[in-house]
Amino acid sequence: MNKRDIRLLASDEEIPYRLLLLADETKEAIDKYIHDCDIFIYQANLSLIGIYALQEISLEEIEIKNVAVDERYQSKGIGKFLLRDAIGRANNRNYKMITIGTGDASIKQLYLYQKVGFEIYEIKKNFFLENYPEPIYENGIQLKHMIKLRMNLNLI
Ligand code: ACO
Repeated sequence: MNKRDIRLLASDEEIPYRLLLLADETKEAIDKYIHDCDIFIYQANLSLIGIYALQEISLEEIEIKNVAVDERYQSKGIGKFLLRDAIGRANNRNYKMITIGTGDASIKQLYLYQKVGFEIYEIKKNFFLENYPEPIYENGIQLKHMIKLRMNLNLI
């Protein structure tokens, strides 16, 4: 994995919804934030392998709104590589904090985010019940609340 294979998607390039849809339920949900995001893609040998999207929340905070790895390449360390790249980028841009949200039953994601240094700070009660038309299940459990995690920057 080489950091140089991660690049900003140009504004005239097609948004890779196929990958973004691995991390979010519908195109409508993605369209609520993606146009305000910088989208970074990870390509190797001309294949699109991973993606993450960063949205500025305030002058101090940037949020990873979406992170996904093509199913064929998951569980090989690429998710961790993308998160570390996003954290490094946020740090270089002098944000004080980087945040990320996931479902209360998203066990792998909660594990991964804490493994790279994020810490839980907020629970958005009933987020998935109130913001999505259909029930979403992960690991056989219906998602209800959004767990928000954050990492303080300029300390790393
Ligand atoms: N179950 C439990 N743990 C696992 C699994 C698994 N199936 N697969 C990998 N892990 C562990 C790994 O062992 C590793 O931990 P370790 O360092 O202790 O060995 C850790 O999880 C990270 O694994 P990666 O290989 O780096 O993760 P991956 O490349 O699969 O990317 C991601 C993780 C982005 C969540 C990917 O699985 C994915 O695209 N999933 C679908 C989309 C999604 O859920 N995105 C996040 C939604 S939330 C948001 O977008 C803000």
